[in-house]
Amino acid sequence: MAERRPPCIVLGVTGSIAAFRAADLASGMVQKGWEVHAILTGDGARFITPLTLSALTHRPVHTSLWEEAEGGRMGHLDLARMADVVVVAPATADCLARAAHGMAGDVLGAVLLASRAPLVFAPAMNTQMWRHAATQANVRILTQRGARWVGPGEGRLACGEVGPGRMAPVAEILAEVGKALTKTKAKKVSP
Ligand SMILES: Cc1cc2nc3c(=O)[nH]c(=O)nc-3n(C[C@H](O)[C@H](O)[C@H](O)COP(=O)(O)O)c2cc1C
Repeated sequence: MAERRPPCIVLGVTGSIAAFRAADLASGMVQKGWEVHAILTGDGARFITPLTLSALTHRPVHTSLWEEAEGGRMGHLDLARMADVVVVAPATADCLARAAHGMAGDVLGAVLLASRAPLVFAPAMNTQMWRHAATQANVRILTQRGARWVGPGEGRLACGEVGPGRMAPVAEILAEVGKALTKTKAKKVSP
């Protein structure tokens, strides 16, 4: 009988003040029995260390296209193929803009472009950044391509403003990724 492999989640973490909450998210995913491959952007690494995510996911964290290329590998393409779901949490305004426009200048952008797995974004940003017509246009573009959204929630933000922009609670992100996984499984069993 074929051995069932655990669901493979690629978790992108970007440069938001909410990035520290990605630690809880990664831990929650591992506790669900999911295989978690974390990608940390350069600015994400200013807020949370690769070591933290690596210790919680029990795997190396992907931070650069070039480190992996030195070993003769194109790890971003492997990640893109392996992923059952790609989730970006927190997702910055800049990351949404890059994703909407297909920019692949870093490992996260390359995976987002190369993967056909369901994509979940948990945005986190200042209220005005979220409400800006540019961000909302990027959200529409990504939604039209099938992206799913969790949050942002409303409340007092780190910058002191009150309004939408908080990263959704970890439990809500886990639930959305779980739903996206169900969709992937259904697709894999259907002829
Ligand atoms: C202290 C601090 C907090 C920030 N928090 C956010 C944030 O919550 N959301 C956001 O979109 N950008 C935030 N930024 C700006 C991003 O870090 C910046 O746009 C960066 O280029 C994002 O890069 P990345 O998407 O590659 O991680 C913050 C910047 C600083 C200095």
